[in-house]
Amino acid sequence: ASPPRIVPSVLPADFSRLGEECQLLERAGVDRIQWDVMDGAFVPNMTMGPDIIASVRPLVTLGFEAHLMVEEPDRMLRRWVQAGCEIVIVHAESTRHLHRTLAAVHDLGARAGVAVNPATPLSAVEHVLDLVDLLLVMTVNPGFGGQEYLASMEPKIAAARALIARTGREIELEVDGGIARSTIAGAAQAGATTFCAGSALFRERDRLADEVAQLRSLAAE
Ligand code: DX5
Repeated sequence: ASPPRIVPSVLPADFSRLGEECQLLERAGVDRIQWDVMDGAFVPNMTMGPDIIASVRPLVTLGFEAHLMVEEPDRMLRRWVQAGCEIVIVHAESTRHLHRTLAAVHDLGARAGVAVNPATPLSAVEHVLDLVDLLLVMTVNPGFGGQEYLASMEPKIAAARALIARTGREIELEVDGGIARSTIAGAAQAGATTFCAGSALFRERDRLADEVAQLRSLAAE
């Protein structure tokens, strides 16, 4: 199996120095960068649009994933891909026509991810897994960094792992929310292989490479 992936969320970054913050993450050896896109409607917070992502794109070589916590994600799919995101993750709860939305992401040449909030059953995605490259199981209620990891999601992570195994497809299983040294092993044992962490990384910015390596080794145990 491939080694665990550590994917920082830039939500806790210093937005006045976003380019430097992403270069710091690249130097620390992370696998990709997650842009937490929030529209103030799907979640009670607002963050960045495609132009901000595009401005950082030339500064790092890392892959970008856009985590779209927005209503009607179909309206701007092209913009996120043009901004330089190789993966576009839409929430199953945010579009009436998830199958069509995921196909549209592929038509734009990006990999398609689907995210499920804590209350959303996996049955919401089981009929579109042939279009899914990445399944994101939220381990917090989306909208903010620094929240408590919901260990109650671990059976759901394990069920997601079993669901993916039944497809026989290489679907990345990512978790997001409250991932830190104290929680990552539980998520990994449940079956996650990609770990999105925000505050757990940025609060260790002076020893970021060590923290990334430590998280990766805890996830690999
Ligand atoms: C929450 C975001 C998460 C969050 C992770 O809505 O989707 O990516 O930024 O932050 P931490 O790791 O601090 O929970």
